[in-house]
Amino acid sequence: MTGAVTVRAFAKINLGLRVRGIRPDGYHELHTVFQTVALSDTLTFRVGGTAFRMHCTRDDVPVDERNLVWRAAAALWGALGRASALPPVSVVIRKTIPPRAGLGGGSADAAAALLALARLWRARVPAGALERIAADLGADVPFFLCGGTALGLGRGDEIYPLADTPPLHVVIAYPPFGVSTSEAFGWYEADRASQRTGRAGRNPTERPPAIWRPDSAGVTNDLEPPVVRRHPAIGDVLRRLRAAGAASAAMSGSGSAVFGLFPDAARARQAAARVSRHGWVARATRTLTREQAAARFVVRARPPWPAASRPGRRR
Ligand code: C5P
Repeated sequence: MTGAVTVRAFAKINLGLRVRGIRPDGYHELHTVFQTVALSDTLTFRVGGTAFRMHCTRDDVPVDERNLVWRAAAALWGALGRASALPPVSVVIRKTIPPRAGLGGGSADAAAALLALARLWRARVPAGALERIAADLGADVPFFLCGGTALGLGRGDEIYPLADTPPLHVVIAYPPFGVSTSEAFGWYEADRASQRTGRAGRNPTERPPAIWRPDSAGVTNDLEPPVVRRHPAIGDVLRRLRAAGAASAAMSGSGSAVFGLFPDAARARQAAARVSRHGWVARATRTLTREQAAARFVVRARPPWPAASRPGRRR
């Protein structure tokens, strides 16, 4: 096997996230709308060398079996029925998406690895198999095989592509601290339990509100109140984004990042400048449609990949 490819792994935000209850497997039943944004990590896969090796530009990201990219490679290799150890590939991850921020960075990298390696290994992966491997890696991973605007049900891993939202200018702001997903769901449960002793808690079987649309009032994230209670700085930045003219502002996924939606690029840039302080980093970016994300997936490839069968295009 030969070849090399550099691909972009785009981040996501959640244009709404409702928790509908706990499942028998301990996960939470979700109703969420994922949206690809132009913020991306870049991953290079080069077949060859002496072993499967990883390098990452952030030294707080593990570069062994703990990394989702490594686990994605191992799961794909196993699914191909090639029982031997992983073949020699050099993987370089250039991180831009902050970890533990609710932007899906690790999951995006894992999905990019599945798509890139399936191609480099000339793997014939049966329909649906890549999605199943992705769902086993993590609840967010299947979305990144699809991209654009998509509804996530179940654990967030049952993906239904939606019509792309009209282009939105987005400011993504993240603090110097991260939030772990399991911790955020734990806080959600703790708050629900304490509310039940006072007033009645929300009925998890109630019909969720309509999903977010460009003309709807705002984005609701059920994980936001419990996370903001533990990290009030997140609430402060949400207020600053609204004061800077955001049509809507919310936490992304389980945090710690927040985002604001702006009517134009100039206002988004001004808002980013206003919220970049006290250790927060803010970036003005925009949403990408499924087509745009697929077209920007491959940065360069050797040998060149035919456009008609480029990865990232599921349908
Ligand atoms: O699937 P993933 O590894 O990303 O999930 C991390 C943790 O987040 C899970 O172990 C679980 O505690 C929590 N989670 C959840 N319900 C979901 C997704 C994640 O409770 N739908």
